[in-house]
Amino acid sequence: MTLETQIQERSSVFFEESAFGFQRLAGKRQVLWITDQHIYDTNNLFFEGREVMVLPAGEATKNFQQLEEILLRLQTIGADKQTVLAVAGGGMVSDIAGLAAALYMRGIETVYLPTSVLAMVDAALGGKTAINFGGIKNLLGVIRQPSAVIIDTGWLKTLPDSEWRNGLAEVIKHGCIREPGILQVLHHHNLETMQTDTAWLQQLIRSAVTVKWEVVAQDPHEKGMRKILNFGHTVGHAVEAETGIPHGQAVAVGMVYALHLSALEYGLDAAFIDSVLSLLHRYRLPVKTDVPFETLWKAILFDKKKQDGQLAYILLEVPGKAIIRYFELDELRTKLEAIHNQMCGAV
Ligand SMILES: NC(=O)c1ccc[n+]([C@@H]2O[C@H](COP(=O)([O-])OP(=O)(O)OC[C@H]3O[C@@H](n4cnc5c(N)ncnc54)[C@H](O)[C@@H]3O)[C@@H](O)[C@H]2O)c1
Repeated sequence: MTLETQIQERSSVFFEESAFGFQRLAGKRQVLWITDQHIYDTNNLFFEGREVMVLPAGEATKNFQQLEEILLRLQTIGADKQTVLAVAGGGMVSDIAGLAAALYMRGIETVYLPTSVLAMVDAALGGKTAINFGGIKNLLGVIRQPSAVIIDTGWLKTLPDSEWRNGLAEVIKHGCIREPGILQVLHHHNLETMQTDTAWLQQLIRSAVTVKWEVVAQDPHEKGMRKILNFGHTVGHAVEAETGIPHGQAVAVGMVYALHLSALEYGLDAAFIDSVLSLLHRYRLPVKTDVPFETLWKAILFDKKKQDGQLAYILLEVPGKAIIRYFELDELRTKLEAIHNQMCGAV
C-alpha cells in the first residue's frame, strides 16, 4: 500500500487494484456500492456479492429524482454515520453520489473508484459534487472531499474509445495549463498504444492527476487559482449545452477558442497552438463547432457567473501558465466572434 498523495483536509489518492484497496480502507463497515448500468454490465464479476445500486447511464441521471433514489436506498438499507458509499463510476456517478453522501445524515464517507479517464484525472479529484438543475449543468452541489480515491486503470479495459477521447481532452487541458511535458508525451503516442501499454498509461494518468491535485490543494474551495481548471470550459459548456456532445469533446472545442484568445491577449506562440490542434486531431477530438456564434454567446451568458458585468476567462500567458482574465462583456463578445468567424472559415 502506497500513500501517493495526501492533499487537504482528509482525502488521499491511491494507485492500486480496486477490490484490494477498498477492502483495506473499509474493513468490516457497511458499504453501499453505486455505479451505472454500462459499468455494471461490463464489470459484473466485480460487483458480485456486493450491495450495489445501479443508476441509468448518462448525464440525464444527474437530477433531483435520482438523488432522492440514492438517499432512499441508503435509508432502506439502514445506513448510518459509519456506512461507506463506494462510488465506482465516471464523473456522472461520482458527482451525484458524492452529493447524496454529503446530504445523508449530514455526511457519510465516500471512496471514489473512478472508471473513466475523465473521472481519474478530473471528476473524482477535488471534491466537487453536483446535479444539473433548471437546465443548468452542475447548478446544485457542494464541495466535499471523498475519504479516498483509488485509481485502478484496469477499469479502462471496458471503457469505449469515444470515452477515452473525452478523458484525453482533459489530459490535454492539464498539459496546457500547467505541464506542457504531458503534451510532448501525448505527441509520441496514440489511442491504440495507450490502450496496450499499461505502464505508460499509468504514468500519464499520474502526471495528469498531479496537475489537478496540486491546483486543488492550493485552492480547495475555488476562491481563485482553482478556476484555471476551467480552461476551455466557457465555450465548452456552451457547445455542450447546445449540441449535447460529451463534456470532453466540448472542452476540446472550447480550448481552441481559449488558445486563439490567448494569442490575441498575450501573444501565445502560434506554434504551440498548432501543436495542441494537431494533438486534438491525433486523438480524434473536435476543434470547431457548427453552432452559430449568436447561439453560443447566449449560452455563455446563460451559463457563466458574471462579476460586476465582467466575465472571467481562463487564458494561457505561455504554455503551462494559465491565468484568469476578466473581460467586459462587449469586448469579449467582439473578440470571440472574430475568432469564431476565423475558425469556421479556416478549419
Ligand atoms: N466533479 C468534478 O470536478 C467534475 C469534473 C469534470 C467533469 N465532471 C462531471 O463528470 C461527468 C463526465 O464524466 P465522464 O466522462 O466520466 O461521464 P460518465 O460518468 O457519464 O461516463 C461516460 C460514459 O462512460 C461509461 N463508462 C464509464 N466508465 C466505464 C467503464 N470502465 N467501462 C464501460 N463504460 C464506462 C459510462 O457508463 C458512460 O456511458 C459530467 O457530469 C461532468 O459534469 C465533474
